Amino acid sequence: MARRPIRLTVNGRIHDVESESSAILLDVLRDLGYTDVKSGCEQGDCGACAVLLNGTAVNSCLVLAWQADGCEVVTNRGLGTMDAPHVIQEAFADSGGVQCGFCTSGMVIATKALLDRNPDPTEAEIRDALSGNLCRCTGYGQIVGAVRLAAKRLRDLASIPASSHSEDGRESQGGRGISVPDGQANGGGAGC
Ligand code: FES
Ligand code: FES
Repeated sequence: MARRPIRLTVNGRIHDVESESSAILLDVLRDLGYTDVKSGCEQGDCGACAVLLNGTAVNSCLVLAWQADGCEVVTNRGLGTMDAPHVIQEAFADSGGVQCGFCTSGMVIATKALLDRNPDPTEAEIRDALSGNLCRCTGYGQIVGAVRLAAKRLRDLASIPASSHSEDGRESQGGRGISVPDGQANGGGAGC
């Protein structure tokens, strides 16, 4: 099968790889060691594989790797770490929104995309934004609570002068929710 060279920037690190034309971004990311991107349904139904692709939340199982050539990818790990968690990640932990954790990376990415475009969402808007992310553990109540808590904390931070902000993980990534970017459905690439 034909292979093609692609360049991905993942969490700020450049990777030059050769990828089969049919390889999905999810598999390439996991092969590169980004195992925080979870492989669930591989059909676009569960949201576990969500990443930010040039700031847009996508299900990486629905993106061919070559379509991401030249793109910036951010995974959950790229937003924050155990030592320096992102506000959203902290809110999930503090609200009991993490149980087995399998869905959490995708939930955090979907939340980031939501709060970037809507800093003060209603519960209905939160549930709608996370409707493409499945969780078999929490019943969703704690996750909705986590998003509300993260939104409040981020709004509170935004009221602090910018020079007082931590740089870690709080920069805007944009985002439009979980969807394949325009042009990818017809194989047109992500336009990176
Ligand atoms: Fe389920 Fe991608 S693995 S949406
Ligand atoms: Fe287990 Fe969501 S915490 S699937």
